[in-house]
Amino acid sequence: MKKLDRRLSIAPMMDHTDRHFRYLMRLITRRTLLYTEMITTGALLHGPRDDLLAFSTEEHPIALQLGGNQPDKLAECAGLAEDRGYDEVNLNVGCPSDRVLNGRFGACLMAEPELVAECVRRMIQEISIPVTVKTRIGIDDRDRYEHLCKFIEIVRTAGCNTFIIHARKAWLSGLSPKQNREIPPLQYRTVHQLKQDFPDLEIVINGGFTKLEQVGCQLTMVDGVMIGRGVIHNPYLLAEADRQIFGLRSAVPSREAILEHYLRYIEQQLVQGAHLQAMTRHVLGLYLGQYGARKFRRILTENARKTGSGRAVFTQALAAVQTVPQI
Ligand SMILES: Cc1cc2nc3c(=O)[nH]c(=O)nc-3n(C[C@H](O)[C@H](O)[C@H](O)COP(=O)(O)O)c2cc1C
Repeated sequence: MKKLDRRLSIAPMMDHTDRHFRYLMRLITRRTLLYTEMITTGALLHGPRDDLLAFSTEEHPIALQLGGNQPDKLAECAGLAEDRGYDEVNLNVGCPSDRVLNGRFGACLMAEPELVAECVRRMIQEISIPVTVKTRIGIDDRDRYEHLCKFIEIVRTAGCNTFIIHARKAWLSGLSPKQNREIPPLQYRTVHQLKQDFPDLEIVINGGFTKLEQVGCQLTMVDGVMIGRGVIHNPYLLAEADRQIFGLRSAVPSREAILEHYLRYIEQQLVQGAHLQAMTRHVLGLYLGQYGARKFRRILTENARKTGSGRAVFTQALAAVQTVPQI
């Protein structure tokens, strides 16, 4: 089995890590592992399968995240992912949304480690690409370190060697998904301890990272770092990832070069019927912290939804960040 480099990855995020976003990120970093949004087994088996699984070859390495709790259905979906060319299948055991809880999957599966193990076992039997699990450090009152260790111990016996741990617990009732990403405190030490207690497992830490320096520091204690919201707000934060994290000698892409490439992609996608706004929304943070960034955002936001908009909107937005005021 090909070993995937998980030193740095971009988190699965519903409504964000769609294929346009992933393509954009691939223009910024060639090596960072990309995750899809969570796709449920129900959607994949009964919905528009080809659309849900679609990705561009440039997006490799790419992992598909699945949501579900039925071993056979997960195995079938994992098979579809492998056939479509994904590099990894990840099981979501960390999402606390009501929709997910009603379906009895996501974070609530932390209370059913045997079922998770069975899901993993069936998926591993079905495919030859890696199967990984993304989870939390605990849920509700099952938040002691012993609970987490027991969960890991049981799931690893099914053959899962890679765990991505969002370093905060989730409250399954009373908090919205957004609050569950902010209110329970981050406990990085728990994840570091996990790596010490399970040194043969690959442990990826997630939660609250916004700088590459933090990634470098974490990599002295765990095997990988996954970043979510930090990249949405500031996609360019990964511009030096290939050099700093993966040791490549490639040149750091300029924002303008990224935009020019992305624009070519946009033009291709528009011909195929994609909506401009669905693609421009991902670049809104590209100039974060630069002169004219707010105007850049505003021009794109206001104009991208107008019918017939295309390259001209970008040219106008780009002018806003290139016109440095004379002093
Ligand atoms: C808008 C949004 C959607 C998310 N959707 C998913 C998802 O589909 N699957 C998942 O495992 N986690 C999901 N998450 C959680 C992230 O993957 C990540 O664990 C969390 O945001 C913490 O990392 P961060 O602090 O770097 O953002 C989502 C987070 C956000 C902000």
